[in-house]
Amino acid sequence: MKALTWQGLGDVRIDEVADPVIKDPTDCIVRVTSTAICGSDLHLYNVLAPYLQPGDILGHEFMGIVEEVGPEVGNLRAGDRVVVPFNISCGRCWMCSRGLFAQCETTQVRDQNKGAALFGYTSLYGSVPGGQAELVRVPHADFGPVKLEHDHEDERYLYLSDILPTAWQGVQYADVPEGGSLAVIGLGPVGQLAVRAARHLGIEQVIGVDLVDERLALAREHGATTVDRRSVKDVGDALRELTDGRGPDSVLEAVGMEAHGNPVAHGIIATAARAPKPLARKTIETVGIDRLDALHTSIDAVRRGGTVSISGVYGGSADPMPMLTLFDKGVQMRMGQCHVRRWTPELHDLVAGADDVLALESLATHRGPLSEAPDAYRMFREKSDGCIKVILQP
Ligand SMILES: NC(=O)c1ccc[n+]([C@@H]2O[C@H](COP(=O)([O-])OP(=O)(O)OC[C@H]3O[C@@H](n4cnc5c(N)ncnc54)[C@H](O)[C@@H]3O)[C@@H](O)[C@H]2O)c1
Ligand SMILES: [Zn+2]
Ligand SMILES: [Zn+2]
Repeated sequence: MKALTWQGLGDVRIDEVADPVIKDPTDCIVRVTSTAICGSDLHLYNVLAPYLQPGDILGHEFMGIVEEVGPEVGNLRAGDRVVVPFNISCGRCWMCSRGLFAQCETTQVRDQNKGAALFGYTSLYGSVPGGQAELVRVPHADFGPVKLEHDHEDERYLYLSDILPTAWQGVQYADVPEGGSLAVIGLGPVGQLAVRAARHLGIEQVIGVDLVDERLALAREHGATTVDRRSVKDVGDALRELTDGRGPDSVLEAVGMEAHGNPVAHGIIATAARAPKPLARKTIETVGIDRLDALHTSIDAVRRGGTVSISGVYGGSADPMPMLTLFDKGVQMRMGQCHVRRWTPELHDLVAGADDVLALESLATHRGPLSEAPDAYRMFREKSDGCIKVILQP
């Protein structure tokens, strides 16, 4: 089959690789009909390179048709249409039974001291071949995949694999009080859906922050006030000005470790990513490797006693954090990988509504065959050609 493989820093290619086969009785094989590129994939291009091997198949946002099921998969049959959550969870362990699917104790990657295994996401998360491919082996298919009707559009449901539940969880964790305000830092696909989810949930004042024209404009179309990071001296001051001088009640950080705005950290990260793998891993595990601009902005901007909800992915172990400010302001923080399966039942119903309230069908700006994935990765990284979300068809 054809699959998108990682080859090196900033280098992904379409390769001919062996078809996946059922290995465990709870596996199924899915023939992918749509797969998306995520901001999380961009970290693989760069910072997380030391945890990849040339030939690794990327992709964790995908859906398709079940081709074959293992003997213990009673809930699915060949021909069923499914969307697959990016984290692999068993559905029965101590963590799963508490809705903490991103921490599944059956798939936890213990040799790396990490949570649940993820599709297409490095040796840190189990080196599981991903879904930017014609076929994927889906472990724990007796629990993970969400079954869909056949006549539903791919484009709405594909986002149940990751960005919609991630944005939704981010808004829930932001814990905006009645009548309160939410700032969303970063208006990529996750930030866009967070803006829409927040408005849908009745949060009146939603403020989006980014530095890309189309992304700011799209958030405004969906009811956000926006702050252009390029045109204000200090984002925290700009947000305080919009919120009675106090700062937003809650801030949702949807940028992650590669934030713009810190050239020194940028240099350290770039050097770490290029170092020989063992040295690079050591650096990542013992030095702060994250560019913390968006996170520090969130902490500065949130009002005293407010909540910071972090959806963006971070990876350093020794990042300098403004502990004095966090403590003095009495800030609450929640973060982590999304527990996708915890939100899919309620979100499935929301997505299936005739009116597409979250306007999911118009989020993708680019669509094309999987063979165009290498160019699409570059375009998404550079945010060129108005690119906000790319969907590929194998
Ligand atoms: N927690 C989870 O389970 C989960 C799931 C999916 C994605 N993510 C993470 O969420 C983040 C966003 O993902 P995405 O797909 O929307 O990616 P993206 O890279 O398209 O979006 C990031 C946005 O942040 C903006 N940005 C960069 N620096 C900024 C700054 N200093 N201030 C304000 N805005 C800034 C960029 O212009 C871009 O629009 C990534 O870190 C991704 O890894 C986490
Ligand atoms: Zn994703
Ligand atoms: Zn589990």
